[in-house]
Amino acid sequence: TEVIPHLIDRALARGLAPLDAFRETLDRLRGAFALAVLIEGEDQLILGARRGSPLVVGYGDGEMYLGSDALAVGPMTSQIAYLDEGDYVAIDRTTARIFDAGGRPVTRQIRIIPPAAALVEKGAYRHFMEKEIHDQPGACQHTLSAYLDPVTGRARAPGGLDFSLVDRIQIVACGTANYAGLISRYLFESLARIPVDIDVASEFRYRAPPVRKGTLCIAISQSGETADTLAALRWCRDQGLGTAAVVNVHTSTMAREADILLPTHAGPEIGVASTKAFTSQVAALTALAVAAAAARGRIDAAEEARLTRLLLEAPRLISGALALEDQIRALAPELAKARDVLYFGRGVMSALALEGALKLKEISYIHAEGYPAGELKHGPIALIDEATPVIVLAPSDALFEKTVSNTAEVMARGGPVIFITDEEGARRAPAGVRLIVTPGCDDIVAPLVYAVPIQMLAYYVAVQKGADVDQPRNLAKSVTVE
Ligand code: G6P
Repeated sequence: TEVIPHLIDRALARGLAPLDAFRETLDRLRGAFALAVLIEGEDQLILGARRGSPLVVGYGDGEMYLGSDALAVGPMTSQIAYLDEGDYVAIDRTTARIFDAGGRPVTRQIRIIPPAAALVEKGAYRHFMEKEIHDQPGACQHTLSAYLDPVTGRARAPGGLDFSLVDRIQIVACGTANYAGLISRYLFESLARIPVDIDVASEFRYRAPPVRKGTLCIAISQSGETADTLAALRWCRDQGLGTAAVVNVHTSTMAREADILLPTHAGPEIGVASTKAFTSQVAALTALAVAAAAARGRIDAAEEARLTRLLLEAPRLISGALALEDQIRALAPELAKARDVLYFGRGVMSALALEGALKLKEISYIHAEGYPAGELKHGPIALIDEATPVIVLAPSDALFEKTVSNTAEVMARGGPVIFITDEEGARRAPAGVRLIVTPGCDDIVAPLVYAVPIQMLAYYVAVQKGADVDQPRNLAKSVTVE
């Protein structure tokens, strides 16, 4: 970045006008960037350009803005235009002159962003993350209502997405969104019998796997701007695959570039550690798995209506899980002393174990690992001693007994266990564990319910340690560069 002003400066020294000097410099740059440039003496001019990374122009009243996304300029103006790939712009107090990569003047649509994006405040909460954890019943409800019809009991896939034409799904995502994808794999495969491949986007885009027609690429992203996920989505599109994007920011690049937008309605998420966007992704993908199962004739209308009804219970059950807050807070002082924490579960809970470990390390800086419980004896059991807490995610489902026996192996080695289960599971839990009892629920909503205690656990441990919960060190909310 430091080189760029020098290049512009040299071009100016050769007598070029500011916009021409900027244009010439852009032609010499390679890689991904979003730039905002001020030139000394040109106090009515800001130049901007984007390649790879997003950039928006905000239109105010006698003032203009450049920002990385709608949320950044939201507090100042609700009118924004997204620059397209390769665009550059010259703005003064009242106008924005936008040019495409070839230097031709272009118009980019001015959109009105919803006021919610401009009015994000913490309210009575200490941190955005705490607020966003508590927002989850509403976020899930809004999201589910885009996919489920409570009157007819039908699940629908938006945007004309026809799952009967889909032979295979390729999911690409990063971070927490990737774990939402991992959870959905279990559901697409078991309910709809569609084979699912899932890769972290940064691996997928360079792995260049063989692709088959009939594969639907699903990118999952809160921001819709993560550079690797976007590149993976574009790669799939260039291979001729159909593309869909599960995104929370509906005007983002992924939302605009995918064939089909699969929205989540979590509202703006500010905390770097994703919470309500994650559960909204899981909710949307679960509803889509039901829609896919119905479209492929894997379930009949009665079963579709039953699953729809169960899923619509999720907001109430999430509220029930939020009531565990005091119990979880009480665990924090002890956990905050740990150097390592392990998370175990089976089936979808193994994916949620990965998310639990990620949440803890992101914001509390405690080393944590998630594992499928069955893998315990293949390595992680060597780590267990009295000082290594183990969080077990154990709903009383078909795999419960196996999870219990893995827990017994941990306890035999002195590991303190926090056992998150339901009432039925609490009756059959091994003696000596610390129990957290969630509201009983069907398997299909369990990932949404169990997400809540693991988020709260990470949150209260981070607060206990005095960490900056909303802005953890070294992390960014949206990673728009490689
Ligand atoms: C960053 C954030 C994570 C997020 C990931 C993917 O690493 O810190 O919380 O899960 O990016 O972001 P996306 O916007 O694509 O969901």
